[in-house]
Amino acid sequence: MAQALFDSAAISYDQEFSHTFVGREQRKRVYDWLEKKKILASSPLSILELNCGTGMDAIYFTQKGHRVVATDISNAMLEQARIKANKNLLQVDFQVLDIKNLHQMEDRYDLIFSNFGGLNCIEPSDWKKLFSESQRLMQKNGKLIGVLMSKKCWIENLYFLFRADFSKIGRRNRNKECLVHVNGSLVPTWYYSPSEVAQMANPYFNVRWHKPIGIGIPPSYLSNRVEKNRILKSMAILLEKLLGSSSLFSNFADHYIICLEKK
Ligand SMILES: C[S@@+](CC[C@H](N)C(=O)[O-])C[C@H]1O[C@@H](n2cnc3c(N)ncnc32)[C@H](O)[C@@H]1O
Repeated sequence: MAQALFDSAAISYDQEFSHTFVGREQRKRVYDWLEKKKILASSPLSILELNCGTGMDAIYFTQKGHRVVATDISNAMLEQARIKANKNLLQVDFQVLDIKNLHQMEDRYDLIFSNFGGLNCIEPSDWKKLFSESQRLMQKNGKLIGVLMSKKCWIENLYFLFRADFSKIGRRNRNKECLVHVNGSLVPTWYYSPSEVAQMANPYFNVRWHKPIGIGIPPSYLSNRVEKNRILKSMAILLEKLLGSSSLFSNFADHYIICLEKK
């Protein structure tokens, strides 16, 4: 079911997210953290990417000289990713994989990476297996880095308040499945705070750090409005710079990046 939902979003995904103001700026923040924390600094890493979508990050990592196995549940997303890799004359190993089926994977990786909410498609009962299988697939000192949607995005709540859409205020923070619109379909989504992730990961991973992504840059459905307004756009970028380094704000941003290290 999840596959069909995302298949229908594949062709327009880059246009509606990756190449928008929000998509570009939030991804840039993710790369800034990978850089600042020297995650990609050591010589060629072996990277397993989960929910790679249209391959933006797989291509970035490959261009930096790392070996990438990039996976997604959606064949149509992978098709877009393959086209992109071919255009860039890059060799990336793209494979269909449901995050819930990590037991199907072999090999060992230095880094398991999941960007922009793939892990929010995983319900609470599936996390134990995700962590135990990720641990099995990792080299010593291996890291699992996820970028997840947070529970208390302040910009989203303010936006719903201004629209007087009161039923949606705090929708991410209800500790139950939330149905989110993706290209006309409703996708079951679960939101987790960094401390909830840390708790679930505890037997297998320690949290090393987490940081907000999108504390000034808004959620993607506001991209057009902000991009068209010079003042809003500058304010978004400024706020991101001012608040984006403090882990205190991770759970109040649109997303957060969290780094877990194998125990
Ligand atoms: C918001 S997109 C993020 C794509 C990509 N990581 C990026 O940075 O642009 C979410 C992706 O998660 C994938 N996905 C959803 N549920 C999944 C699952 N159970 N296993 C693997 N991939 C999944 C979707 O097909 C989609 O490509």
